[in-house]
Amino acid sequence: MTTPTPIIFAHRGASGYCPENTMAAFRRALELGATGIETDVQRTADGQLVLIHDESLKRTTGNDELVKDVAYEEIVKLDAGNWYGSVAAYAGESIPLLEDLLELTKDTDTIINLELKNGVIPYEGMEQQVIDAVRKHGMSDRIVISSFNHYSLALCNRLAPDIRTGVLYMEGLYEPWKYAAAIGADALHAYHYAVLPEWVAEAREHGVHYHPFTVNDEAGMKRMLACEVSGIITDYPDRLLNLIEEKGAL
Ligand code: G3P
Ligand code: MG
Repeated sequence: MTTPTPIIFAHRGASGYCPENTMAAFRRALELGATGIETDVQRTADGQLVLIHDESLKRTTGNDELVKDVAYEEIVKLDAGNWYGSVAAYAGESIPLLEDLLELTKDTDTIINLELKNGVIPYEGMEQQVIDAVRKHGMSDRIVISSFNHYSLALCNRLAPDIRTGVLYMEGLYEPWKYAAAIGADALHAYHYAVLPEWVAEAREHGVHYHPFTVNDEAGMKRMLACEVSGIITDYPDRLLNLIEEKGAL
């Protein structure tokens, strides 16, 4: 039996080449052959879902405030591309709405991994908001919701059992496929050092997939491909695509 081709998840878009979590990074991911996109969801003061990794706006825009304290009409004016090296081409990129990414990808086959950044700030009600946005775009079968906040994932599974979820974790959980099943999750979004081939095989027997993060070097990618994971999250989707194509040619 041949193993299905792993999903190439572009981490924060093609963030190895473009400022993370911008429309430029998402478009570039598609151009480079990504079959999936991972992104981070936070919420503005006026309740808009936006794509930015940090709770604070500081690192990627220079504004020293929290996302949760600023209304979207102010956030959208911030430059989220200027910080990225000296590449002037990205100046003027703004922080996207979740809706912008769903619009970009709704007529493609791309799998979208929405990481809810609700481990630090709980953003009460965010789960239902995300599910509503996904349903509005008819994308329920192409979404994987993940979070380090596993209570939030369990809630997502109760609210929308048809939308896949992935458990994010850093360390060597014991038999994590059992844990995933306990909260109704479909996938393990494990830090890549917490992945061994025998665990991937056993998880698969239980119907649970591994989507390790964040794997950027070729050696790490080869190790994950040898483990036969179902997807890999990387800043360099083209690098991973090349390895998958080489492997297919063997
Ligand atoms: O979803 C995988 C990965 O993005 C989790 O860590 O900090 O890059 O969001 P982080
Ligand atoms: Mg993330």
